[in-house]
Amino acid sequence: MSVAGMPMSRKEVLATSMSALGKLPPTMQQLLSLINDPKVSPKDIAKIVSYDPSLAYQVLKAVNCAFYGIPREITNITQAVVLLGLTNVRNLCLGLSMSMKLAQRIPESKSFKLVDFWRHSLATAIASKIIANQVGESREVANNAFLGGLLHDIGKLVLYRVFTNEYAELVEESLAGDRDLLELELQFCEQSHADVGGNFVVSWGMDSSFVSCIVNHHQIPSSPQYESLCKIVKLGNKLANLYGFNCFANSVSSNIRDAEELRARVFEKADELKIDTNLIETDIRTKVISEVKQAESFVEAMILAAKKSK
Ligand SMILES: [Fe+2]
Ligand SMILES: [Fe+2]
Repeated sequence: MSVAGMPMSRKEVLATSMSALGKLPPTMQQLLSLINDPKVSPKDIAKIVSYDPSLAYQVLKAVNCAFYGIPREITNITQAVVLLGLTNVRNLCLGLSMSMKLAQRIPESKSFKLVDFWRHSLATAIASKIIANQVGESREVANNAFLGGLLHDIGKLVLYRVFTNEYAELVEESLAGDRDLLELELQFCEQSHADVGGNFVVSWGMDSSFVSCIVNHHQIPSSPQYESLCKIVKLGNKLANLYGFNCFANSVSSNIRDAEELRARVFEKADELKIDTNLIETDIRTKVISEVKQAESFVEAMILAAKKSK
């Protein structure tokens, strides 16, 4: 594509592709706006989800997976909301919508696999929620930390969707050498995956607290607003890596120096949040690993949603 014969820069290609990806589906807009309404009933939520039959189908399929541990088959969305709670249904719907929108028709590469991407995102979400509870944050902050963690790397999925092979090469270059992925991304399209993810969720009309978590998960926030939430998600991301839930297939830190560096950074971030660092290798590790294992079918649901929308 070009304007007056001039080829588009990658930054322009990205902007055009993002606007072509459209807005948050109306169902999700309504779900997000109702999340903090105390008067909302499971029936109201079920009605909204049912407006989107393909989403409703995916939700029922997902809730009947082992992840949620519900012994009997759930046959309608109202039951799902009653049994799982509004927050879980919202998170599930949002993850499914993103997967259907972003992951359809994308081939997998040696380094970029959807299963690793979603498992890393889920591990970050779970770790972020555990940390929020550990530091005594409210239920609302803990739920937001989960969702912020789930979406923190969504910019990688956008970049992979738009530039598939070139982005896979970039990832491989960062895994093979000493160059940081963020640095390579900036050089490639003038934005990091954190910026791209932030822009993407802005275009989906999401709350500024989530935008802030995404934009700042690799940097110090420029504004003190949502600072605590950002610090929680940042630590959640590092913990996911420390516990072996890496975003890219080949990025398991076999290099001792890298592993030590990661551990030092985790301890530094835990210290900032006044978390007892002994818990990082004991209770928190056990909890995160066991919850991620239990949630494996959430990852499967995301992959299935991407395949279904092909
Ligand atoms: Fe990231
Ligand atoms: Fe990450």
